[in-house]
Amino acid sequence: MGALDGKTAVVTGAGRGIGREEALALAAEGALVVVNDVDAAEAAAVVAAIEGAGGRARAHTDDVATWAGAESVVAAAVDAGGQLDILVNNAGILRDAMSFSMDEAQWDAVIQVHLKGHFACSHFAGMHWRERAKAGEEGITGRIINTASESGLYGLAGQINYAAAKAGIASMTVVLGRELKKYGVTVNAIAPRARTRMTETVLSGIGPNPDGFDEWDPANIAPIVAWLASPDSQDINGQVFVVFANRVHLMHGWDLHNTIETDGRWTLDALTARKDELFGDRKHGLPPMGFGS
Ligand SMILES: NC(=O)c1ccc[n+]([C@@H]2O[C@H](COP(=O)([O-])OP(=O)(O)OC[C@H]3O[C@@H](n4cnc5c(N)ncnc54)[C@H](O)[C@@H]3O)[C@@H](O)[C@H]2O)c1
Repeated sequence: MGALDGKTAVVTGAGRGIGREEALALAAEGALVVVNDVDAAEAAAVVAAIEGAGGRARAHTDDVATWAGAESVVAAAVDAGGQLDILVNNAGILRDAMSFSMDEAQWDAVIQVHLKGHFACSHFAGMHWRERAKAGEEGITGRIINTASESGLYGLAGQINYAAAKAGIASMTVVLGRELKKYGVTVNAIAPRARTRMTETVLSGIGPNPDGFDEWDPANIAPIVAWLASPDSQDINGQVFVVFANRVHLMHGWDLHNTIETDGRWTLDALTARKDELFGDRKHGLPPMGFGS
């Protein structure tokens, strides 16, 4: 008995990296997995690996950053398994540059794949669950697991397109969590760290560890996603986790830090007079980049 027996899942960008491991883990827990990736050869290889291990999978190779591709990946799950239970939004790309050097194509490509891709798939998945609820089905349990990034939570220089999209995805996770809760759907996000094609240049000095636990193995991310997809996490909603190696960090979003109040409307002089009271020693809002690995 797997934790996901009888469930149908979609993993976008599942041809390689973190998505591949997520697809393998969901299938190992019994889910029928739609392995989506624009790279058809990689998607087919993941389907073969799942089937070789005794699991069930279908390849789907449309671009999920298009409206039609997102509609079709949800339809593929319904076609294969009768319904959609789990959507893992994972597909992603990088087009890094400093804001003053970034061109329009770099901005548009990253916003399209991450922000629109997450939204479009969630839109059609949400429609699917809402239609089932409106048709009178009871006991629906749906899952969306989004993929954010610490770049978006902390604001990494050189990735303004990617950080904006990933911060948007963290925010979208809360909105979707509120909107879909009444249909039995929970929505959470992970911000992973792993050695993949996407990070191979920055992690070039960190190879696999043949002697012990490989902290940067993308397979380390997958059990947390499988658990978020499982019945045991039905009461977990709107959360963002940083996931790395053997650690799960529960994050906390924008928080009230301090308040000042005046009589009537503020003047510039009054703000200057109260500046230290408002900011204390936090005059800049540039947090340290993440926390130690
Ligand atoms: N690797 C990390 O440390 C890290 C850190 C933070 C966030 N992430 C996020 O994790 C996710 C997976 O990244 P990865 O590191 O495994 O990268 P990866 O490049 O290894 O894999 C991404 C996959 O997505 C596919 N893809 C890209 N655009 C697509 C589209 N429009 N439709 C369908 N498939 C598409 C690619 O073909 C590729 O196979 C991404 O959202 C990424 O931003 C990764």
